[in-house]
Amino acid sequence: MKEKEIQNKLQSILGKNRYEHTLGVAYTAAAMAMNYDEDIDSAYLAGLLHDCAKGYTIERQMELCCKYGIAITDGMAQSPQIIHQSLGSVLANKVYQVEDQRICDAIEVHTTGKPNMTLLDKIIFISDYIEPNRPMIEGLAKARKLAFHNIDQCMVHILKSTIDYLKQSGKSLDSSTVETYNYYK
Ligand SMILES: [Fe+2]
Ligand SMILES: [Fe+2]
Repeated sequence: MKEKEIQNKLQSILGKNRYEHTLGVAYTAAAMAMNYDEDIDSAYLAGLLHDCAKGYTIERQMELCCKYGIAITDGMAQSPQIIHQSLGSVLANKVYQVEDQRICDAIEVHTTGKPNMTLLDKIIFISDYIEPNRPMIEGLAKARKLAFHNIDQCMVHILKSTIDYLKQSGKSLDSSTVETYNYYK
């Protein structure tokens, strides 16, 4: 699929705010790729598609998981907000015709992270958190600075902030985020 086609499709599926977030992630990922000598086009495309499954309701996401043979793990059942990362990775390939496995892999872990992430994985994970449209929250300024200076420290900082936030707000905390944090801390 051509880039313009992808953009048009995403724009119609995601709605205004999420599409603006998507563009913010794509450009932030491209800038981080420049900083760390990662491929700029891959980072941009992964950023553009990272939330491609998020425009659907959780119910529809579950149906699509069935359709594409994605197993709903216990973690996904308990924290349905993470389903869109696995589904998004498959849709990127099957619907948006992305052949580069590195891009699909980065989409697959953009919410929870995982131990031993690739540079591209980290760039998408971090860009999702720091992109310019994100409302200012405690620790965001530090994450933005660290993103361009020490990528692993930035991972730890974001994971810690996310875990603290989920705990404080009583939201479900998935075990993969904790596992990722324990790996990087
Ligand atoms: Fe996401
Ligand atoms: Fe996102």
